Amino acid sequence: MLIDNHGRKINYLRLAVTDRCNLRCNYCMPSEGINFVKSDRLLSISELKKVSELLVSQGVDKIRITGGEPFVRKDLMELMRHLANLEELNDISVTTNATLIGPHINELKKLGITNINVSLDSINRETFERITRRKQFDTVHNNLIRLISEGFNVRINFIVLDGQNEQDIIPILDVMKHHKVSVRFLEEMPFNGGSKNFNTIKWNYKAILEHIANTYPNYKKLESPKESTSINYQIEGHTGTFGIIPSFSRTFCGSCNRLRITATGDVITCLYGKPVSNLRDLVRGESDTEKIKETILTAIGNRAKTGFEAQEKHAQTIFDNSMTSIGG
Ligand code: GTP
Ligand code: SF4
Repeated sequence: MLIDNHGRKINYLRLAVTDRCNLRCNYCMPSEGINFVKSDRLLSISELKKVSELLVSQGVDKIRITGGEPFVRKDLMELMRHLANLEELNDISVTTNATLIGPHINELKKLGITNINVSLDSINRETFERITRRKQFDTVHNNLIRLISEGFNVRINFIVLDGQNEQDIIPILDVMKHHKVSVRFLEEMPFNGGSKNFNTIKWNYKAILEHIANTYPNYKKLESPKESTSINYQIEGHTGTFGIIPSFSRTFCGSCNRLRITATGDVITCLYGKPVSNLRDLVRGESDTEKIKETILTAIGNRAKTGFEAQEKHAQTIFDNSMTSIGG
């Protein structure tokens, strides 16, 4: 079992498989994109398998595949098939923008990989296209409908962006009213590739909840696992639920069970920190499993207690990070 220096059990690996994305969301990167890494610097599928297996052998029982957009990687399903065979894994999940998942929906279902978090910041075509800078609204819409009707456990991640999409908060709840879906509203985080710095946000947890309560005063708080990123609610008469993720306020650090490995093999022990080591050279070629294990254990043994503490160490430089290279 992996326990960090603050006594927190680490059982959740967020594994990024690429830093590339086919959208250009304005809160994540500038319109020209970022310097994406060359493919030989990415962990190969067999290296990703090796890293996952090793962490699973150390007690990780949940793996979330992230990116960039995971499905831009053509060989992704090979990794998914492998993970689906690891008996110790209780939860294999994917976070995706749902543009490219269509051809893989049937196989994912067959593999039993049904936890899909879809990033969708607007249900209005114009707003969607303005935020993502791409015309993919219909594809996302169709894939989302398919995922829901095929019985996937879908969570929609909606980042509340001041002046951009707050008018869609209530409409997305209305649209999802009769669907068994969780709509989670996220506080904006400062990882946008350096285009915008901020130390406060208007749409924090409280503001989002108050906004929803103005239209839907009858809601109740739901029980959630202690390590959950979202605080979850149910509106009276709705089939689905909604949640709020205080990703900027960082109120859930006390129970943080997450370890991140980026597409290039960087080990990140806090979303607001910087990479503390890299596994690529260790897993490439003649790898020494003990050395990889030791590197991971050292990283886990030196974690910041909170996202604020991690950020302090790196002053303002975290603003240059892009969500697409950290893996979210
Ligand atoms: P579930 O497994 O469905 O609970 O999802 P998750 O919230 O762990 O993963 P997801 O990829 O859906 O994350 C959605 C968003 O939550 C991210 O983009 C972040 O904004 C936020 N988030 C996830 N993990 C962390 C974390 O460790 N720290 C902070 N500050 N935010 C996080
Ligand atoms: Fe964990 Fe850092 Fe996120 Fe806090 S901000 S929950 S410590 S990853």
